[in-house]
Amino acid sequence: MKILEWIDYRLPIVTLFRKELKEYPTPKNLNYLWNFGSLAGISLVIMMLSGIFLAMHYVPHVDYAFDSVERIMREVNFGWLIRYVHMNGASMFFIVVYLHMLRGLYYGSYKKPRELLWILGVVILLLMMATAFMGYVLPWGQMSFWGATVITNLFSAFPGGESVVQWLWGGFSVGNPTLNRFFALHYLFPFLIVGVVMLHMTSLHRFGSNNPTGVEAKANDKIPFHPYYTIKDLFGLGVYLCIYAFIVFFMPNFFGEPDNYIQANPLVTPPHIVPEWYFLPFYAILRSIPSKLGGVLAMFGAVFTLMILPWLDRHPVRSGRYRPIFSKLFWVMVLNMGVLGWIGAKPPEGMYLWIGRAATAYYFVHFWVFYPLLDKFEKARESHQKESVCGLEKLLRLAVLCIFGCATAFLMRLKRKK
Ligand code: HEM
Repeated sequence: MKILEWIDYRLPIVTLFRKELKEYPTPKNLNYLWNFGSLAGISLVIMMLSGIFLAMHYVPHVDYAFDSVERIMREVNFGWLIRYVHMNGASMFFIVVYLHMLRGLYYGSYKKPRELLWILGVVILLLMMATAFMGYVLPWGQMSFWGATVITNLFSAFPGGESVVQWLWGGFSVGNPTLNRFFALHYLFPFLIVGVVMLHMTSLHRFGSNNPTGVEAKANDKIPFHPYYTIKDLFGLGVYLCIYAFIVFFMPNFFGEPDNYIQANPLVTPPHIVPEWYFLPFYAILRSIPSKLGGVLAMFGAVFTLMILPWLDRHPVRSGRYRPIFSKLFWVMVLNMGVLGWIGAKPPEGMYLWIGRAATAYYFVHFWVFYPLLDKFEKARESHQKESVCGLEKLLRLAVLCIFGCATAFLMRLKRKK
């Protein structure tokens, strides 16, 4: 088209899109786990669009916030749909990003030369957590208020932290100034995430995607992104949207907390203050250390550990496929994260406290002790054969599946009871 040529000559965006999205050489052996990056991008767009429409009707004031959300649900045209898409979209986004990270962990995508790509990913995760936390405060329900109170109070663990907490609140408790600034920042942060995602993509396109073998693909092992991966991504998107729609239309409150349908009341503390499910493993780490400062340091330490992963795991072989011990420990780690998530939802007492402590200890031992040791002692496999999956690995996979199955069944029963 003449007009596009005219623009492209002066501002080469068409060339950029053609090079980076159409012709972009991609390894030909990527499996479906490589779909989660594009799904994360689409989730981000869905969240931003639904959020902008919600913001047109939401009132960020402690006297009106709760009612304005009810009004969106009952009176705004399709307000219920926009809200359920946004509410459940947060959970879908975290599921997709956690799977995206697990893929990277298993296939060693964080290793040289993709260290910065990985670090930018962890920065995105932190920004997502901050955005989700502030978003949860906006409906001004009981869990919004008390969750915000507990989490902002964590800063008081540091010396001089009391004044930081008051500065965050804009007063002497969580109140109207807090709600206002959380709304402003909740609107702003997704745009920051878009910026970091652009850096993430620039860094990805510098060396191209890793692949299941972990061996850098040569030029003739690559195919153009379009149409091969656009069609594969579209298929993944179809499956994703079916699951998303099922949750929105048939079980929209599955991930929610019933207590958040009660308006915030600073005089009544709910019996159990639980964060959203995607924070639970980190919440469990926080609570498993007896001192407040220790807990906060352990929680931030858990995220910091992810950041420096490329330097903790220096084994020359990239993919878990060819690393017999690493691949088994990977499943132990997944299981351990499931246990931490379960403990995060339980009161910090008795047996739960001890299981939480053991799982927290394992988290750090896994990355700080096992990874450096594997570098010295693990011998890589020469080939990837199906029969190399040993009994222990099968058992561990089965255990992970059983735990997730039981946890889902348990959660569903709990919801039905409520
Ligand atoms: C908004 C969130 C995110 C978006 C939109 C996003 C987007 C993408 C896309 C489109 C790709 C290429 C396709 C693929 O490999 O799946 C990719 C690759 C990658 N991402 Fe992300 N990402 C996000 C979050 C993260 C996080 C939280 C991490 C890790 C902490 C991460 C680490 C990686 C790595 C290591 C790769 C390279 C994978 C490989 O080539 O094997 N990303 N990302």
